[in-house]
Amino acid sequence: MSATQPNAFGIAGLLGWPVAHSRSPVIHNHWLARYGIPGRYVLFPVPPEKLEAAVRGIASLGLRGCNVTTPHKQAIFPLLDRVDDLARRIGAVNTVVVDQDGALSGFNNDGNGFIQSLRDADARWRPDSGPILVLGAGGAARAVVASLAAQGAKQIRVANRTRDKAQDIADAVGSVVEVVAWDERQDALDGVALLANATSLGRAGKRPLGIALDRLPRHALVGDLIYVPRETPLLAAARQRGNITVNGLGLLLNQARPAFNAWFGVMPEITPELIRAIEATF
Ligand code: ATR
Repeated sequence: MSATQPNAFGIAGLLGWPVAHSRSPVIHNHWLARYGIPGRYVLFPVPPEKLEAAVRGIASLGLRGCNVTTPHKQAIFPLLDRVDDLARRIGAVNTVVVDQDGALSGFNNDGNGFIQSLRDADARWRPDSGPILVLGAGGAARAVVASLAAQGAKQIRVANRTRDKAQDIADAVGSVVEVVAWDERQDALDGVALLANATSLGRAGKRPLGIALDRLPRHALVGDLIYVPRETPLLAAARQRGNITVNGLGLLLNQARPAFNAWFGVMPEITPELIRAIEATF
């Protein structure tokens, strides 16, 4: 048996610090059971000083791969054999796959997962349907903006309280990104086909995002990366005026699909049963 032959019992997991709050075990273990695949998705609480040793062990232990979360999404770069272009542009890895030869490849499916969830909600919308306004410029915003650009978005306005961080995204992603002052976010709603909230405002325990939607076109999609609560004040206001709305649960589920496929060889489906299983954890 070669050193890289996968174990029949497939193990994948989440590297982070902390990891206890993650819903990923619910998602992947649900799919393992549904498709009758022998395996388990487990949590690996790994403090920063142990990241290198943990990553070196991934292939040796015969894991199929892992997800990566805070604070390791950037720190893991030099420990991987390959990192795909989109993850490089995002500057963060959220999924590691152990290749046939035992090499570790890094990806970032977060932004594409969000885009897929938008298309699931409105089949007519595409990244190049019209201008996009993204609020926020943290790691999540960066993944969304880079992925929208990679999928053909023509104009992405980014507004963030700390303007320099929006400028960093523009520098990394290119000329399709236009930095907008935080105070001008309402005016920047003019003509958009998508408004996406990637700030933490509106999350349970945080104050709501302050934005009047008067200038938002009725046909625009409104996405919020938050999923607790399921409907943020932003999404409630948008829904009440007739816009199609999408919360962050779709990102969570859709980023997991290609990872599961790479680890276990089945592209899994998002079913009402799975959504109920996740919602039962809130
Ligand atoms: P994540 O990795 O989920 O993107 P993050 O990097 O902490 O999380 O980013 C949080 C985002 O919410 C940032 O865009 C942050 O703005 P700053 O870059 O100015 O910090 C935004 N945010 C958090 N609290 C905010 C507030 N009270 N007003 C405006 N923006 C806020």
